[in-house]
Amino acid sequence: DWTPDIFVEATVEGLKERLGDDQVVLGLSGGVDSSVAAMLIHKAIGKNLHCIFVDNGLLRKNEYEDVLESYKGMGLNVKGVNASQEFYAALAGLTDPEDKRKAIGRVFIEVFDKEAHAIQNVKWLGQGTIYPDVIESVSVNGPSVTIKSHHNVGGLPEKMKMKVVEPLNTLFKDEVRRVGRTLEIDESILGRHPFPGPGLGIRILGDVTAEKVRVLQEVDHFFIKGLKDAGLYDEVWQAGAMLLPVQSVGVMGDERTYESVVALRAVASVDGMTADWCHLPYDFLAKVSNDIINRVKGVNRVVYDISSKPPATIEWE
Ligand code: XMP
Repeated sequence: DWTPDIFVEATVEGLKERLGDDQVVLGLSGGVDSSVAAMLIHKAIGKNLHCIFVDNGLLRKNEYEDVLESYKGMGLNVKGVNASQEFYAALAGLTDPEDKRKAIGRVFIEVFDKEAHAIQNVKWLGQGTIYPDVIESVSVNGPSVTIKSHHNVGGLPEKMKMKVVEPLNTLFKDEVRRVGRTLEIDESILGRHPFPGPGLGIRILGDVTAEKVRVLQEVDHFFIKGLKDAGLYDEVWQAGAMLLPVQSVGVMGDERTYESVVALRAVASVDGMTADWCHLPYDFLAKVSNDIINRVKGVNRVVYDISSKPPATIEWE
């Protein structure tokens, strides 16, 4: 029977043999998969693993600083790279979802490739690819139909001309979490909701600007903090907010306002392939809506997404 302890032991042994004294580079995202993959490789080869954490300017509020701190606490050899301005520049004026995804993917590869090649003698690219990613990239992003381009699976290895090491590519998400617990990775990383590689860039509908990112970071912060405070965070598979390219009329005091609308989305799912919208308590939604409208300047209306996947996807872009 599969157990995380046996998996860790066998995988670390296998990695030692396969990697020897080679140098490996790996991009951390703050999520469960890349963190667990990094810790496994770290256990096998220590300082020969070089981790890179890119701030694409599309992360959650304070996420870059917080996550970088926890990685350092885990003993990982990690370099933080703030590339926000490069991403914003590439996104300027783009409104089509696929164009935005491609731009974010392209800049990520450019930034990562440059950092990776600054490390001497790197032979391997480590990736946190898990089994459903392998399946989804075959069935969804296959030759016939691309619903959404996933930039974390494709592209990178070809461009980098490196051998790829993916220690999690036979595991499902819950198994990855169990392996992470065996490796004593912090619960705050293991329990994190999935977050898309293109980040808030695909939750800001229409063109992305630094100011819109700031607004959405605040909205997202009140939603996620609200879920945690209410003990609902772990009940929900994934949650986030979308900034819509729509303004609506409101009233504040005796002033007319004309400001942005945000949509909150929370779903129950097993693997992200199908999802049901969560029946969050009305009282909770009321409180979060008040927090957002009263505290986030530029937003005067909050709506809740009650669509399931399929036919709606989890992300709006
Ligand atoms: P959709 O919107 O396709 O999302 O229903 C399914 C799950 O995948 C996440 N997602 C991504 N994750 N890179 C990622 O790492 C991406 O480009 C990407 N696009 C969507 C989404 O957040 C959800 O968990």
